[in-house]
Amino acid sequence: MLRTSLLIAARSAGCRKLVERVPFTRNLVARFVAGSTLEEALPTVARLTEDRLVTLDHLGEDVTDEAQARTTVDAYARLLGELDRAGLADRAEVSVKLSAVGQFLPADGEKIALDNARLICEAAAAAGTTVTLDMEDHTTTDSTLGILRELRVDFPWVGAVLQAYLRRTEADCRDLAHEGSRVRLCKGAYDEPASVAYRDKSEVDRSYVRCLKTLVAGSGYPMVATHDPRMVAIAERLAAGAGRSAHDHEYQMLHGIREAEQVRIAAQGGRMRVYVPYGDEWYGYFMRRLAERPANIAFFARSLVGS
Ligand code: FDA
Repeated sequence: MLRTSLLIAARSAGCRKLVERVPFTRNLVARFVAGSTLEEALPTVARLTEDRLVTLDHLGEDVTDEAQARTTVDAYARLLGELDRAGLADRAEVSVKLSAVGQFLPADGEKIALDNARLICEAAAAAGTTVTLDMEDHTTTDSTLGILRELRVDFPWVGAVLQAYLRRTEADCRDLAHEGSRVRLCKGAYDEPASVAYRDKSEVDRSYVRCLKTLVAGSGYPMVATHDPRMVAIAERLAAGAGRSAHDHEYQMLHGIREAEQVRIAAQGGRMRVYVPYGDEWYGYFMRRLAERPANIAFFARSLVGS
């Protein structure tokens, strides 16, 4: 119930104004977001890449006009140029939300998003790194996977995200478990109806394991995106059982969550990638992180009362 309310609030302009006005919010946001500018985020990237890999997200989603979409493309081009200049492009890639490059625009949104994502892929290729397309709510899944297919014609290293809470995802994992494919498997962070998604945590976890089995048994490159120690242990067992080396799959976690576990996996020789968001448009991302964990909500509520 609380999770659903927070996820609805994540898309409300009124709630956004309210939350942004709370002075203490910034401190909590700083736990999950590496800075409001690229310059602020780069030291975090440099620190993390000493023992881990990184994927950077220039925060933003649901743009409402083409100019905003172009601003997102320019921000990614600058980011990729900086990664290259700083010598970080072999350890840091980027994650892109298609709604931030125009997917939801009423006229030709999909085409605009495809063209813009292509520009970001060209910049990534020039820097010598890769792009992964984030997955948003279920109304975008077909469109995002369609754009992925188109991009992979010219940029076969583009990765996708699949969400285990969606009932369709086992089938999508089968489709994407092929040679050259990179799939980040997460549980899913949006408020989805029971008609398309498992709503019960144990059902989501069971689906996650089924999807993992498909990806690990396939010939693509599985990216295990979870902070759940049980899922990580199962992935480790499945990968070992399938004869995958440490370089044949990777683990991924969000910046600011379970850092000790990130360090443990990296220290044991595993490929551990941290998802690092930065920028001013932190509201939607932040609200989804609150919704994931009751303790975060309690902490935030206490700060609201105290502010
Ligand atoms: P689960 O929610 O069961 O949490 C397991 C444990 O992890 C918790 O008990 C707690 O200890 C810790 N934890 C989890 N979330 C926390 C939080 N917010 N704060 C503090 N501790 C927390 N989703 C999506 O829909 N589309 C996407 O593109 C992506 N991309 C993505 C990339 C990467 C690298 C990751 C790790 C995750 C995503 N997600 C995502 C988010 C994902 O769908 C999911 O909501 C979160 O990862 C939480 O689920 P867990 O698998 O961690 O398990």
